Amino acid sequence: MNDRIIEMRSIEKNFGDVQAVRGASFDLKQGEIHSLIGENGAGKSTMMKLLYGMYDRDGGDISISGESMSRITPKLAIERGVGMVHQEFMLVPELTVLENIILGFEPKKGMMLDLQQARAMVQRYIDQYDMDVQMNKRVNQISVGEAQRVEIIKILSRGANVLILDEPTAVLTPQEARHLFEILENLRRDGKSIVFISHRLNEVMEISDRVTVMRRGETVGSLERGEWDYAKLARMMIGREVFLNVDKKQSELGKPILQVKDLWTSGEKEISKIRGLSMEVRAGEIVGIAGIDGNGQSELIEAIAGLRRVEKGSIVLDGTDVTNAAPGAVRRAGLAHIPEDRNLRGLNRSMSIEDNMIVTKLKQFSQGLRLDRKSIRKYADQLVERYDVRPGKPALPTSALSGGNAQKVVVAREVEMGAKLLVASQPTRGVDIGAIESIEAILEDTKSKGVAVLLVSADLREILSLSDRILVMYEGRITGEMAVQDANEDSLGILMMGGTMDGKEGAP
Ligand SMILES: Nc1ncnc2c1ncn2[C@@H]1O[C@H](COP(=O)(O)OP(=O)(O)OP(=O)(O)O)[C@@H](O)[C@H]1O
Ligand SMILES: [Mg+2]
Repeated sequence: MNDRIIEMRSIEKNFGDVQAVRGASFDLKQGEIHSLIGENGAGKSTMMKLLYGMYDRDGGDISISGESMSRITPKLAIERGVGMVHQEFMLVPELTVLENIILGFEPKKGMMLDLQQARAMVQRYIDQYDMDVQMNKRVNQISVGEAQRVEIIKILSRGANVLILDEPTAVLTPQEARHLFEILENLRRDGKSIVFISHRLNEVMEISDRVTVMRRGETVGSLERGEWDYAKLARMMIGREVFLNVDKKQSELGKPILQVKDLWTSGEKEISKIRGLSMEVRAGEIVGIAGIDGNGQSELIEAIAGLRRVEKGSIVLDGTDVTNAAPGAVRRAGLAHIPEDRNLRGLNRSMSIEDNMIVTKLKQFSQGLRLDRKSIRKYADQLVERYDVRPGKPALPTSALSGGNAQKVVVAREVEMGAKLLVASQPTRGVDIGAIESIEAILEDTKSKGVAVLLVSADLREILSLSDRILVMYEGRITGEMAVQDANEDSLGILMMGGTMDGKEGAP
């Protein structure tokens, strides 16, 4: 018998004149963790959405457990045991974990699921795979990592034996990612098959049995454990060497651009309220904020950007008091902002790439009441080139871009604003290693032009390689500050968990 639980052969998928997938192949064995990697826009998400039946394919064959599927819908995919965890979670924040898991559950013949049964079922998954979720908590009270575990339980409870995880670790801290890998190991041991998509080659090499590389819609090849190393995978992905070493220069420190004094705000959760936070960022430096998601980083950034009410304290931007100023006024005072959620605040998905690129520069591109379309196109062409947005067609709506390429559009727009302060939240989340290299070089260059840069990232490698100074945030306060030379992943990790430098628990 064929041991392939999934076979995809000669797959084709076009979106208009964009050939997203061009004759690509992929297969999955029972009980393996198979990573799918490749540059932004290579076609990874599209391949998996075809398998899960979210799009119809234009060509090729797909079989699930040996059965050839002429057409797939998500409902059919689930019935055949294929489940997918999307990068944007599909949970309802106001409902409890348990309610979310049973929501939309289609009971098998003659079986109605009641709360009691559901609770028992979820408990079984928790025990079996060491999942650790709090069933009675509302989803808006749990961490991203926990929400992800809820998504996994949700698809397992619908009978999935193939799990597709599209960039699950992009939103996780290193500690949470570790926990996820343990769960994936447990699932594999239990005979589940897993497709894992990630841009982080180190984790790919750690957990995979096999890796398949895609490039420009085609399959470059597959390697088994033992056949790969970092350089080889990077070369297969982007066809050249990659060096993630920022060439860091000490810039001349200028005057303070951002001054936050004794700031207090409300928070999404109890631990994310800002409680008496003070900090500053000077012209010509990158200050990195390290912290586990949910410890007030988002609230701090929102307060700075005029998106969250300040209860007490002050925020001064380049000499202007912007405490509780409207978002537009903060921008005029000198803020550029790469937001953490590019879909919610970063981009207008139905607008074109070029219009998204110039919304912050409307004046510059207006002639009277009309927009100067010709110079907009010229400007957009330059940015698309410099930031390597693919496909490089400024007229396309940003909804047609892959995750990483959409992120590049936001980065381009904000960096090119020429602002005094650049707040960069998770600037390289979801972008491929080639693009990480160039975005990091761009941030470094921005700093050397005398811009004050505030970097928030869950990626400690990024914090360590870009920052001149590092602040650790824990439960709404700054609990540690150090020059980058004095920091390492271990010491930061301890502070991020609420420990202190002398090894005791609890915030100082
Ligand atoms: N709904 C859509 N409409 C039009 N084009 C699309 C659509 N979805 C994807 N594409 C295009 O298909 C190609 C492949 O996109 P896909 O999302 O599969 O890439 P990816 O490998 O998942 O990239 P990333 O790592 O950035 O997530 C890209 O060129 C993208 O612009
Ligand atoms: Mg993708």
